[in-house]
Amino acid sequence: MRRNKINWRVPKGQELTELDKKILFYQDRGHLVPTRELIKTPEQIEGIRKSGILNTAVLDKVAEEIREGMSTAEIDKIVYDYTTSHGGIPATLGYEGYPKSVCTSINEVVCHGIPSEEEILQEGDIINVDCTTILNGYYADASRMFIIGKTTPEKEKLVRVTKECMDLGAEAAKPFGFVGDIGHAIEKHAKKNGFSVVRDLCGHGVGVEFHEEPDVLHYGRKGTGMLLVPGMVFTIEPMINMGTWEVFIDEEDGWTVVTEDELPSAQWEHTYVMTENGLKILTY
Ligand code: MF3
Ligand code: CO
Ligand code: CO
Repeated sequence: MRRNKINWRVPKGQELTELDKKILFYQDRGHLVPTRELIKTPEQIEGIRKSGILNTAVLDKVAEEIREGMSTAEIDKIVYDYTTSHGGIPATLGYEGYPKSVCTSINEVVCHGIPSEEEILQEGDIINVDCTTILNGYYADASRMFIIGKTTPEKEKLVRVTKECMDLGAEAAKPFGFVGDIGHAIEKHAKKNGFSVVRDLCGHGVGVEFHEEPDVLHYGRKGTGMLLVPGMVFTIEPMINMGTWEVFIDEEDGWTVVTEDELPSAQWEHTYVMTENGLKILTY
């Protein structure tokens, strides 16, 4: 096994805690382990949980209002107004130059679709609404799929299987298991259903910043990737394609990620905290 970065250090002369011993056991065997900052304090987890409550309320508001004939700019306005009037900040607004408060990704758009006045929701569309909230400095990140009116059985299946992929990934994540266990479970379920997993984008640590370590790949092998330690907070956000896994970025806006074959793609996302008993969702 390739040697990984030495992320876990104990100051000289300091006695090892049980947690130190456990983490050093894996690190000494070549596994990637978290840094101390990636293990959140109870106060930080409480802050992220409160941010998650607002994030869920924002997405519930979108769920109430979303309908055929609406522009994606209207969704953006709902997210901006609801978030700011409840004391939060939309994390994407101005993030690395991103211009809006939410990402709206329709059909063949995989993610990072930019809301627009010109883009009108049509019957049969499947749309991902991805919303990241900052509350009192804490980040919560989640997204859902919405089906506009009636769609095809294939697109319906894609939306359902993608949700199942996220849930199975979360189930596979155990304390002192590995990030790769998540990706393995997701890839297996996607393939079994004849779909492919986007490889260019992944889930991520979150909470104190928007994107933290580790990378949470949605494919891969069990027992690989970072060790999962209670207190770690991260997203699982599989992007599952009906056709090829390959994607490209729209040259005009520099953001919109689209499937290479322009077949539909779906995504779901939650923010989770690892506990002694497995993953807990913070964005319910
Ligand atoms: N919310 C996305 C994620 O799940 C990130 C969007 S960044 C943006 O990580 F700039 F495109 F908005
Ligand atoms: Co995310
Ligand atoms: Co997101």
